[in-house]
Parts: sequence; C-alpha cells; structure tokens
Amino acid sequence: MDNRPIGVFDSGLGGLTAVREIHRILPHEDIVYFGDTGRVPYGNRSRAIIRQYARQDAAFLLKQGVKAMVAACGTVSSVAGDLLSRELPVPFTGVLEPTVRAALEATKAGRIGVVATEATIRSGAYAQLLKRFAPAVSVYSQSCPLFVPVVESGFMLEHPDITKEIAETYLSGMRACGVDTVILGCTHYPILKPIIGEVVGEAVRLIDSGRETARRCRTLLEEHGLLAQRETPGACTYYVSDRIDDFSKVAGIFLREDVQQEVQLVDIEKEGGAPWPTV
Ligand code: DGL
Repeated sequence: MDNRPIGVFDSGLGGLTAVREIHRILPHEDIVYFGDTGRVPYGNRSRAIIRQYARQDAAFLLKQGVKAMVAACGTVSSVAGDLLSRELPVPFTGVLEPTVRAALEATKAGRIGVVATEATIRSGAYAQLLKRFAPAVSVYSQSCPLFVPVVESGFMLEHPDITKEIAETYLSGMRACGVDTVILGCTHYPILKPIIGEVVGEAVRLIDSGRETARRCRTLLEEHGLLAQRETPGACTYYVSDRIDDFSKVAGIFLREDVQQEVQLVDIEKEGGAPWPTV
C-alpha cells in the first residue's frame, strides 16, 4: 500500500484521456499530471529530441515523489519507452503494449489499422509489437499529423465538418483495406473517436490507448503492492509548460468535466534536469 501519487505525462493535454480513465477505475489514487504544452507536438520531431524531452518530463515528475510513471503519449511510448522502462527507478508503463493487446483481442479478421503521429508511425513500434504477438495479422499504418493541433486547439468543436474532411483524407485508404479494428495510437485521438468512427465505418472497433493504459496502470500498481489505501477520492495536480490561461477550457474537453483546480506552470528545461546520463 502506498499513498504517493501516480505520475502521468504527455506532450500536451491528450494524456488527460488516460487520466480520466485512471481516475474512473482507481478513484482513490492521487495523480500528478504534466503536459508539455510549451513543446507540443512531439510527433513531428526527431528521435533524439523526443527521447530528451521524455527524460525531462519523467525527471520532473520523479521530483514530485511519484510511485509509478505512465507515459500517456503514443509518441513517447514508441520512441522512448525502452529508455524509460530501463532507467526509471519506479514501475513504468507506456501506451504501446496495453493497446496492442486490446487490439489483438478485438480483431476477428486479423486486419488492424494503426493511426498515430508521424514519429510513432516512423518508429514502427505498434506494427512490430502486433507482429511479435501475432505474426499472422495484417497491419495498416497511417500518420495523421494534423489531428494533434486540431484537438489541442479545440478546432474540432468549432469546425466539425473540416475536421471530418481531414479525417476522410487520412483514413479513406485504411477503410478500403478492410480493417476491422483501429488502434488510436495517440492519446489525443480518442477526442476524435466519433468522427474517426464515422469515417472508417461504425462496425470497426476503435481501441482507445488512454483507456487501455489506465487498465495496465491498475495492474502495475497491484503487482507492485502500490495501491493507495484511503477512503477519500484521490486528487489530481496539474502542471503544464505553457498556456495556463486556457488550460481549464481545453482540459475540460479531455476530462469531460469542468476543471476547477489551478494549474501550475513549469520551466521544464530547468525543472526536468535529468538525473540520467544523456542519450
Ligand atoms: N498524445 C501524444 C501521443 O500520444 C501526441 C503527440 C504529439 O505531441 O505529437 O502521441
């Protein structure tokens, strides 16, 4: 039993889709969230930079005394998940493995689509893991670089038609491939679930990386005897590296509730002085 908080981070606020689920299934856990809103998006950056940012984000959360770490970011999980699981002094999960396992359970036809950021698709991490667990599956990957800015800015609320056109442009090819399951491999994408669902077809199962990662987080805490022991609801503390003014509005979209808490600004380059050697 351990009442210290869980650390959760993302390049921006997409990781809040995982926070919402963690809070739902582990209501007594405290969470410290860091969203790197000053440097989002990560998905169009190089491997070296994403690994450096991941280290800084995790280092900052370690300083907040977290008992476990969740990279609620498909890009970090794909490009720096190996580094974090090897080097972090606390139990760690990214989004990759839980999401892949859920997709393999869901598929009937063995034809799986992966939609994610450019860096995630370029890394090949989802496709490789799918093939490792199930060599016979066919994988169709598609990067959707405009999705993160569309979600992070709230654009899809004001312009659902344009958002649907963007989704159509990215995903019509995948629909033609006859996939029966699509991995939403970026934690921002569950916000676009209704639109993506319309484009790929209602019968296609959409796997939400935030939700699956929350489930994995629960197992991780159970395995390490780290579940909190308290009767009261857990609290969430939010940190971001920019744009504190519109935090409540945008965070509310991800959390699907009004956000009352204050958010604190972090100079991540300074605060995330990594305790690890450089890559
Ligand atoms: N939520 C991040 C992910 O899951 C977005 C990445 C980005 O910043 O481009 O990949």
